[in-house]
Amino acid sequence: MCLPQTWHSGWNGNNVPSASFISPVQQRGLLHELRKGSATKEQICLHHLVQQLPRAIIIGVRKGGTRALLEMLNLHPAVVKASQEIHFFDNDQNYARGIDWYREKMPFSFPHQITIEKSPAYFITEEVPERIFKMNSSIKLLIIVREPTTRAVSDYTQVLEGKERKNKTYHKFEKLALDSNTCEVNTKYKAVRTSIYTKHLERWLKYFPVEQFHIVDGDRLIMDPLPELQLVERFLNLPSRISQYNLYFNATRGFYCLRFNIVFNKCLAGSKGRTHPEVDPSVVTKLQNFFHPFNQKFYQITGRTFNWP
Ligand code: A3P
Repeated sequence: MCLPQTWHSGWNGNNVPSASFISPVQQRGLLHELRKGSATKEQICLHHLVQQLPRAIIIGVRKGGTRALLEMLNLHPAVVKASQEIHFFDNDQNYARGIDWYREKMPFSFPHQITIEKSPAYFITEEVPERIFKMNSSIKLLIIVREPTTRAVSDYTQVLEGKERKNKTYHKFEKLALDSNTCEVNTKYKAVRTSIYTKHLERWLKYFPVEQFHIVDGDRLIMDPLPELQLVERFLNLPSRISQYNLYFNATRGFYCLRFNIVFNKCLAGSKGRTHPEVDPSVVTKLQNFFHPFNQKFYQITGRTFNWP
């Protein structure tokens, strides 16, 4: 148990512990030590570190850039990320373990910080909106989307790579995306269904008002991440702290990478940013035409318009 620490200089006069006595760089260092398991119980007590339920969740969309978004938001000194996908709300077994199990999966943070987790399966799983609503009906929900056909190909590419790793053969994208009998778009194919964003969003809207969602443009996050991150900062009511200094383009990776400070920077793992297979242009057009009306509805509901075909 933590004893009251009335003697150190971190109190702010309201009997609320303040973390101001250690700098943001030191705070990050301490949280890093904790993640490695090398911080002491005394440090946890001294700095009033807590495991907080998320105040915002990146609910999807798979292959939209969910990892990049989480890692980039973690550049903000008031944001702490749950590194792993926790799959609490979409996995019945995990959900049955209860909310304390979920909280214990959260990283330690300072009381003034907010915790964010991402599990892209949440977006498409039937039971999740109601379960999240029961935990916190005012939680902020982030959805990162990409042009739906590109997202579907990215989804396919991930599965293909998994099969190849196991020396298994796999169908071509064209075969999966079109129904072989009708030559129409195969709506039973999961990679297609996931890209019908409006269908999934409509289920969420039965529980949460549209203002509680923020849509992130995943294509712009790739090309020019800062403006997208600034919109998220505003949505989360955070002061604007992520700057161009924190993001640099790495020509070898072909993506923006993250600079936390003068000594620590990192790019995302190689599994992010795979080369997509060439897809028959007529199949691409068919998919684009198929997604078009759903996209229009998505723009209408969310108030965010994209230049998708
Ligand atoms: P591709 O592999 O199709 O290029 P998710 O994290 O949801 O699985 O999304 C993966 C996608 O994030 C990648 O899809 C990649 O394009 C995108 N991405 C966005 N910003 C990135 C970054 N800075 N580094 C690597 N990938 C990034």
